[in-house]
Amino acid sequence: MNVQAASPLAPARDRKADFPGLVTATGKPWHYLDSAATAQKPQAVIDTVTRAIGVDYATVHRGVYSRSAEMTLGYEAARRRVAAFIGGSEEELVFTRGATEAINLVAYSWGAVNLGKDDRILLSELEHHSNIVPWQIMQQRCGFAIDVCPLTDHGRIDLDAAERMLTPAHKLVSLAHVSNVLGSVLDAPRAAEMAHAVGAKLLLDGCQAVPRLPVDVRALGCDFYAFSGHKLYGPTGIGALWARADILGDMPPWQGGGAMIDKVSFANTSFAPAPQRFEAGTPAIVEAIGLAAACDYVDRIGLEAIHAHEAELVAQTREALRGMNDVALFGPEDSAGIVSFAFEGIHPHDLGTILDEENVAIRAGHHCAQPLMEHLGVTATARASFGLYSDEDDVAALIRGIERTKRIFG
Ligand SMILES: Cc1ncc(COP(=O)(O)O)c(C=O)c1O
Repeated sequence: MNVQAASPLAPARDRKADFPGLVTATGKPWHYLDSAATAQKPQAVIDTVTRAIGVDYATVHRGVYSRSAEMTLGYEAARRRVAAFIGGSEEELVFTRGATEAINLVAYSWGAVNLGKDDRILLSELEHHSNIVPWQIMQQRCGFAIDVCPLTDHGRIDLDAAERMLTPAHKLVSLAHVSNVLGSVLDAPRAAEMAHAVGAKLLLDGCQAVPRLPVDVRALGCDFYAFSGHKLYGPTGIGALWARADILGDMPPWQGGGAMIDKVSFANTSFAPAPQRFEAGTPAIVEAIGLAAACDYVDRIGLEAIHAHEAELVAQTREALRGMNDVALFGPEDSAGIVSFAFEGIHPHDLGTILDEENVAIRAGHHCAQPLMEHLGVTATARASFGLYSDEDDVAALIRGIERTKRIFG
């Protein structure tokens, strides 16, 4: 199959030119298939970050001088831009360090006042550790129970099972919108309907969804949406929590300090309204502005096109892998841009090391999803994950590298 011809994103090769990170130190093509871990950055984002940390740089929200006032406008415009990217509005968007911090924010703030010893929450077997461990830590404090929804044979969250498990004691359902290992896409509107039917809130971990699918938080019907900027072609150290305005407005602060207050005295301190109430300290100004530039870049291409392009690459990869001996291929056929697999007799780390010699970068390991590894009956998988810049040459290089590895291992 010729992905260049078939893909609505064609020619992806031209997109590669936008990403200076996609070559090796000696200038050779680098077949980067680890975009689910972190995406390479387009020059447009690098330029925006360079400007923001250089000639435009100043603090926000405090300065009386014009550069700071302009930086404040830039930072707040970034909030509007990132909120709009997922169909939300600026009062609903808290900048965080990433998805991990966004989920921790919900656990520590919303969870502390809404989860007690008679309550339950529902997670799934495929969650990233960042959507498991914060809840376990809060469970030790608040005493609620954690239920784990099983998966279907195709590696999707089994929403029929979830429906049977949910009770009025459930206050929260927290699920990955797209699995970082299997690429399976959640039927989020159905999950929202089921959660709301028992009075629970729905949190979606959108880390792998925002770079791969058009996301509209209102159409999804969720209550919280968490994601990281660095997987969306933006900088590290920035991400967001979107929460419905009425919910966010009622949540207590979870970290104290400058910028999140209304008035401070030793007798009584009052807090700023949301979202500022959740951004204690000097924020990641440059990174937020860089993330807004990433949203602009992605929107110029269009997530429908990116999704279709990555789907072609997934189909091509799965087809090639299926033709090989001793391969276990995980996840559904219509995975969103991510293919996990394992070969009998070849540890994924060995495969990753040999592929590296061929300038092919994959991820090998448990992908911060150890309960899912247990479910799959493996300790690790190899994972190839695509970005908008990936193309058929990357898939061909991966397959060539795997064939070489298989020859080495006999
Ligand atoms: C599904 C999912 N959730 C959460 C995270 C955590 O993201 P971060 O480390 O950027 O906070 C990741 C990162 O791999 C992920 O893939």
